[in-house]
Amino acid sequence: MDYTVMMPAAGSGTRMGAGHNKLFLELEGKSILAHTLAVFQQDPWCTGIILAVKDSERTKIKTIIQQEQLTKVCALPEGGTERQHSVKACLQASEAGGIVLVHDAARPFIKQNVIHELVINASRHGGAVAGVKAKDTMKYVTDGVIEETADRERLWVIQTPQAFRYEVLKEASQLAEQENFLGTDEAMLAEHAGFEVRIVESTYDNIKMTTPEDLAYGEYLLKKRLE
Ligand code: C5P
Repeated sequence: MDYTVMMPAAGSGTRMGAGHNKLFLELEGKSILAHTLAVFQQDPWCTGIILAVKDSERTKIKTIIQQEQLTKVCALPEGGTERQHSVKACLQASEAGGIVLVHDAARPFIKQNVIHELVINASRHGGAVAGVKAKDTMKYVTDGVIEETADRERLWVIQTPQAFRYEVLKEASQLAEQENFLGTDEAMLAEHAGFEVRIVESTYDNIKMTTPEDLAYGEYLLKKRLE
């Protein structure tokens, strides 16, 4: 079952504190960006990769694409100031139709079986996102005071990929723009537009490389994968 993946890669990664885009940091001799792209290059269901980049990083990213023979990368639109704007740039650069996935370039450990489950669910229901069950107790807190304990049985921690029928994501994205609605993920835009979005159970190691501690864990995960 075919899909196109849209990958925002135009962030600054300030929480990583690397002084440059964290996606260029290396794990086992290869950039985080190259690791994430390779997952989709190797997936037979993936027919194209649209990568949102900063203009100032375009040349460096083109070099990585050439060196790693990432032949599925078909467009490099310019990203925006917020992640949502970078995803919108990808949507504008894409052909209408089919199933589209949005996946953070900073998540190199996504598994192919989860991707396929997402594609199947998005095709059936309109939208599906990767997530894991919350492990910890979660509480709503205001000004340092606990207001309420959330029902953990119903809480999920949401990741990417987030998969949609193309027209669902397009409509959700257009409505968000008209109403100046800023979401922290694409599912939020689809929910806001009234679409059903399903959960597909993913794995806890599908981490977003965000802070320096994640690098050591990432190295460990890669070594384990190669064993
Ligand atoms: O900063 P964070 O890790 O949450 O960003 C998630 C993904 O979105 C990263 O791959 C990052 O490069 C991308 N991003 C983007 N444009 C932005 C902000 C983030 O493409 N303005």
